[in-house]
Amino acid sequence: MKAILCKSYGLPNTLEFGEITTPPLQPGEVLISIRACGVNFPDVLIIQNKYQIKPELPFAPGGEVSGIILATGEKVKHVKIGDRVIALCGFGGFAEEVVVSAKRVFPIPEGMDFINAACSLYTYGTSYHALKDRANLLKGETLLVLGAAGGVGLAAVELGKVMGAKVIAAASSTEKLAICQEKGADFIINYSKEDLRARIKELTNDQGVDVVYDPIGGTMAEVALRSMAWKGRYLVVGFAAGNIPQFPANLPLLKGCSIVGVFWGSFAEREPQQSLQNFGELLGYIKSGMIKQHIHKIYSLEHSPRALEELMDRKVIGKAVVKVGDWKEAPFVGKSTVTKSHVTPEAGKKPMVLQKANIKAHVGQSLGVSDWLIVTQEMINDFATATHDYQWIHVDVEKAKQLMPDGKTIAHGYLTLSLAAKFFYELVIIEGVTSSINYGLNKARFPVAVKSGSRIRMHGSILKVEDMPNYGLKLFLECKIELEGDDKPACIAELITAIF
Ligand SMILES: NC(=O)c1ccc[n+]([C@@H]2O[C@H](COP(=O)([O-])OP(=O)(O)OC[C@H]3O[C@@H](n4cnc5c(N)ncnc54)[C@H](OP(=O)(O)O)[C@@H]3O)[C@@H](O)[C@H]2O)c1
Repeated sequence: MKAILCKSYGLPNTLEFGEITTPPLQPGEVLISIRACGVNFPDVLIIQNKYQIKPELPFAPGGEVSGIILATGEKVKHVKIGDRVIALCGFGGFAEEVVVSAKRVFPIPEGMDFINAACSLYTYGTSYHALKDRANLLKGETLLVLGAAGGVGLAAVELGKVMGAKVIAAASSTEKLAICQEKGADFIINYSKEDLRARIKELTNDQGVDVVYDPIGGTMAEVALRSMAWKGRYLVVGFAAGNIPQFPANLPLLKGCSIVGVFWGSFAEREPQQSLQNFGELLGYIKSGMIKQHIHKIYSLEHSPRALEELMDRKVIGKAVVKVGDWKEAPFVGKSTVTKSHVTPEAGKKPMVLQKANIKAHVGQSLGVSDWLIVTQEMINDFATATHDYQWIHVDVEKAKQLMPDGKTIAHGYLTLSLAAKFFYELVIIEGVTSSINYGLNKARFPVAVKSGSRIRMHGSILKVEDMPNYGLKLFLECKIELEGDDKPACIAELITAIF
């Protein structure tokens, strides 16, 4: 079979594309025809002989695959030939086939494609174990994620939100942080430009953060430890920056905080039941769309060393994936149930309070402008699910990368319009109203398309107020939705709302 081979330890450019024989199948093992392989940081360590697992040379890197079972060894019960599966093989994934213990093989959830299946368990498994089992993260606590746009970091951002935490995402670029916001981060810190300690103080009102998730190590580690709240938990996840931090022992003493190690691989070996339970919960979150992997780029098997180089160069956001062979499959459209509104909060901004009794006095008045809101791919997918409008320009991210001029999908125009109610709630509270209903729409136009990941906000005003029976009032509201960086609005409409 074809594979990318590590014949002697070194950097990704020393890997060779070649042939290797598939090892014989032992009892308890399965043979998988690989469709895709997730790219993880340990892959760059294993080829340099810097990882705890040290396979015999030559070997193919790649620890997490999706594919189809070609053969099963004796005593294999829970999977059979032809099953679509995910396997945590440790190495051997940058290849056409892999033999792996059946204990490390899981069925792919219904509806999930091979690309998503190949890159979800490792990162989510690590971050869920870290936040749930090691940090015991509680609803309402503050979680700081360093390297927040990396594989495990972005998983921690998403899971932190699912667990009800207030998430501060910290990363090195605006582009990376925009994706963190898409995934629900409440606050962002660009540590290549901003003072990490000062920003944490500012965002937490000097209280510090309850949990730090650190997959980087290096110089930022001590800064983050100094920024912890009383009884905080500092999670040591990895050392992507290369050097292992040395902490002064007085810091945990003064803060009453703990420094907690996270070793997901060892946890899965030592506590298989708990690990399986976590997998079950994660697959449930994935299936229901509460979490969904951000796919950075898909590489061919021949070009997979490039994926490792880009990971080392900090160019990958979310997950890089290697596609093995030429196959086609319907893309996975997860539906998001994360309730975070993806609003960039502006400190101190409060809605205007008006009285129903004298609302006519405010005709012609501007209600101001709302906070920015990022239109995420998850929101677009949810809208497609609700309306059954699955046009590829909205939901097929991969096709959009190839065919759209800027490589992005666009939101349905009616999705943009439907956000007007949410924006109005942000702008104004009308006291004395017991109920309100959408009465109609006089005109609506969508002059500019809203691309996935872009920011919009609304300028609102009261155009007219008319009497209705039973002391009701018809409010004619102007909604002008601004697209960041564009002179033309994304949507202009005159909404009619009846209030009673
Ligand atoms: N403990 C465990 O069980 C466990 C499990 C899985 C992974 N890990 C470890 O977690 C770490 C992250 O893994 P990952 O797969 O998420 O990697 P990744 O996708 O490459 O993310 C790492 C992030 O670290 C930041 N970074 C800072 N300095 C870096 C440097 N010199 N080189 C590369 N990245 C740097 C980058 O973000 P910015 O550019 O924004 O700074 C990058 O996005 C690795 O050390 C890995 O071994 C541990």
